[in-house]
Amino acid sequence: MGTVTLINNETGQSFDFDLIDCTRGPKAVNFSKLFENAGIFSYDPGYGSTAGCESTISYIDGKKGELLYRGIPIEQLVEKYKFTDICQFLISDSLPKNDEESKKFDLELRHRSFLHEKLKRVFDVFPDNAHSMATLSAIVSVLATLYANHKDMDDEDDYQTMARRIIAKTPTMVAFCYRNSVGAPFIEPDVSKSYVENFFYMLRGYPHSRWKYGLDGEQEITPLEIEALDKILTLHADHGQNASTTTVRNVASTGVHPYAAISSGINALWGPAHGGANEKVLAQLHEIGDVKNVDKFIERAKDKNDSFRLMGFGHRVYKSYDPRAKTLKKLKDELDKKGIRMDAHLSEIAQKVEEVALSDSYFLERGLYPNVDFYSGIILTALKIPRELFTPIFVMGRMPGWCAQLIEHDKNPYARITRPRQVYLGK
Ligand code: SDX
Repeated sequence: MGTVTLINNETGQSFDFDLIDCTRGPKAVNFSKLFENAGIFSYDPGYGSTAGCESTISYIDGKKGELLYRGIPIEQLVEKYKFTDICQFLISDSLPKNDEESKKFDLELRHRSFLHEKLKRVFDVFPDNAHSMATLSAIVSVLATLYANHKDMDDEDDYQTMARRIIAKTPTMVAFCYRNSVGAPFIEPDVSKSYVENFFYMLRGYPHSRWKYGLDGEQEITPLEIEALDKILTLHADHGQNASTTTVRNVASTGVHPYAAISSGINALWGPAHGGANEKVLAQLHEIGDVKNVDKFIERAKDKNDSFRLMGFGHRVYKSYDPRAKTLKKLKDELDKKGIRMDAHLSEIAQKVEEVALSDSYFLERGLYPNVDFYSGIILTALKIPRELFTPIFVMGRMPGWCAQLIEHDKNPYARITRPRQVYLGK
């Protein structure tokens, strides 16, 4: 194993630290004994250069614009597998071997998609128009009280049941959060429907009515719409140690119930700097309003005295095109050709924003490219999904990733409670 020597020029002391080997990406200096040996802390606000854990789940190459789930590029996975297969892949590190295994996992999720009757009554306390991210994190916290046995997971069965249960229930919780916010009755899951179709059904359906979906009569949910949302969920399934995943791991490190840790992750994801950006991108495209205003907004994004930032642009790790954004842009154009009409006006503005930004040195020098949130909202709008559900949809996609990361953390006998230090500047 290689080492790094640190020389403290104030004291002349030098210290050797091990380099930790990895299968991809940069090696890490093992600084866990830095304070003990050298009496100093490392300082890295935002942890841009700091690894907080070892992981085998997803890998990002920020320079190449690559994202792998358990070693396989997402571009291959999104074409070949359904989202429920990706859920199985992430939480159990094995893709379904055949159609039968895929169906078995899918069927288990359908049977677990129902919510406890007591949980449904919790929705009554939320005010009308309560944002679905707030109600979703609250409902997931209550889920921890209903399945207290998941607090102590001892074997693979426990891990799998914990994960499959919340993955199965998330579409139901998201649909119920929305229906509750608009005063519409809940539509129970229908086990004859696939994961994504069931979500559309619970979101749009009419109770006990010959009208299956849609607020304008016999409109069916088309296979193309189901395929589109399925792919969007796969593209959101995991993404290394981002802010919300780090939150989930940090909260889990205190020994709390896994669903309480996930509820914290939902709150972290809500922020506009993170998963909440998808909703903000749509608002921003409407604010820009016309391609002739794009230059003005690009100048505002570059102006340090203006708090305006280009939502859906930039990333801590990607300093090139986010492969998810590339795949989503391709999906947007494919769907448009196949008849799921994108909002042409918004698309035109988004295209112009990307074109102007990517020809501007401010963005290129800083490696600011479209990220996963830049195009997702345009597609979700074309799927007639309400804007306030864009980030809850991100939660649906990321749920298997959070579960996989929780399981990895829980299985690690060396995992410690997260407790960073500080540079004290006080009195
Ligand atoms: C997600 O981490 C993940 O993996 C997250 C995610 C996932 O799958 O979990 O990928 C999902 O959260 C994607 C990001 C969604 N957020 C947004 O689109 C919001 C807009 N983006 C920015 O707020 C920002 O780019 C972040 C938050 C995404 C990244 O912030 P960093 O890494 O802290 O970057 P920074 O603020 O240090 O920016 C570096 C420079 C700064 O300028 P200088 O000080 O060098 O002059 O780039 C500028 C920033 O001002 N900059 C932007 C900008 N993003 C960065 N300038 C204008 N518009 C932007 N969007």
